[in-house]
Amino acid sequence: MNREGTCPVAHGPRGLPVIGDAIPYFKDPLAYTLRMQERDSLVTVRLPITFVQVTEPDAIERVLRVNPDNYRRGTLYQGFFGMMGSGLLTLDTDGWRGPRRAVQPAFTPQRVNGNAREAVAATRAVLRRWSEHAASGAVVDVAPELMDVSARVMGLALVGRDLSGTDYSRAAAIANKVIYTSTIKGVPALVPSFVPTRYHRARKWSTRWLDGLIRQVIEERRAAGEPGSDAAGLLLAAGLTDTEVSDNLRTLLLAGSDTTGQALAWTMYELARHPQARRAVEREVDEVLAGGPPDPERLGELPQTTAAVNEALRLHPPVWQFPRDAVEPDTLAGRHVPAGTTVLLSVYGTHRSPEHWPDPEAYDPQRFLNGAQDGRHKHAFLPFGGGRRMCIGKGLAMATLVTAVAMLSQRYRLRLPGTRQVRSGHYITLFPSSGLPAVVQERA
Ligand code: HEM
Repeated sequence: MNREGTCPVAHGPRGLPVIGDAIPYFKDPLAYTLRMQERDSLVTVRLPITFVQVTEPDAIERVLRVNPDNYRRGTLYQGFFGMMGSGLLTLDTDGWRGPRRAVQPAFTPQRVNGNAREAVAATRAVLRRWSEHAASGAVVDVAPELMDVSARVMGLALVGRDLSGTDYSRAAAIANKVIYTSTIKGVPALVPSFVPTRYHRARKWSTRWLDGLIRQVIEERRAAGEPGSDAAGLLLAAGLTDTEVSDNLRTLLLAGSDTTGQALAWTMYELARHPQARRAVEREVDEVLAGGPPDPERLGELPQTTAAVNEALRLHPPVWQFPRDAVEPDTLAGRHVPAGTTVLLSVYGTHRSPEHWPDPEAYDPQRFLNGAQDGRHKHAFLPFGGGRRMCIGKGLAMATLVTAVAMLSQRYRLRLPGTRQVRSGHYITLFPSSGLPAVVQERA
């Protein structure tokens, strides 16, 4: 919705003194996001942290692409430093350009194709386990196995190690929670870090695990006298300090695996619930792949499968919101935004905006097929962000997801027990809150 002139941003409920609207927000932030979006596509929310929730593609485009110099990572991104340090995701002004340039060669299409071959091997490992599940007919939580696909691919692309079957996914899941609670909830401020609560013990364990892995990788490369050509090698060869290498590796390890793993789980979940979409993927993989594995260079020949992934990313965007702070006053889609305002770009709310997505709750991959996207605002779909800080791992994530969904759909279907929908857990990423319990069935 474009507005003429400039008006103030609409106010959400003022809530209670001091804590503002924190109680209804934290009870169900996703439902709250949609309630605020119904009020307006820019709404001020007070929790007591105050921010403007943005679900207006024009405003999002201005923040990310048109006027990015005016928007810093800002206050809420400060909460990322504890787990990620000063890496590519948290760095601001021009500090991010060096690391981005250094690791970019690890994400070229050629490299992504190489890594997608690892996705084939990783999915074969899942298929072996699924043949046992199919034989047993038991209900099993398949989410950890799907997370392992991403752990293997990301581990090899980033630090040259297969991290499936290790504690990597667990360490990343804890970091996901810690970053969320220390940004938007401000919890660590309430409980000092020396108090051995379950939260702080888990946080320290996760940090130790990731630091231990990164230290070993750096020492091995130094001892071999050869940095290697994965992301770790590129960072080492770029002449960064050990701390810079370590912070950037931690950032990549945390940003890449959980997001991609959750997206795979959500796609398989939606295909299990929507037989028509599932059959369209099955038909496509049968015809195009004829029983063989996908060729990483020809994933473009799988538009149905890609659309099934994109539609899952729309309904369950792993990164469901991300913030910026305005340096100077600005006008966003006709609303005046004073200097210092924190804007929270709500991917979740934008992806469910009825103005851009008719019947927004319905899972319908057709939205991404046959030019259906042509008339849509480019920033109405932003699972990977946008502008110059667009996700560096987008190509790798999509290649991994399309490869895995295609291979799983060649042989198996998931049947979900009962009719209840899986609820969405929400930290920094969205995840199926009680895993993905399913019966694995061999396709007839
Ligand atoms: C489905 C999977 C993924 C999703 C949904 C996702 C989402 C996002 C989003 C929304 C941003 C923008 C954040 C902002 O502008 O504030 C981002 C940035 C980033 N992502 Fe991803 N991501 C995924 C996979 C990956 C992978 C596989 C990697 C690396 C292996 C990765 C590494 C990064 C990094 C380093 C940034 C910061 C880039 C910069 O600021 O220059 N992500 N991601």
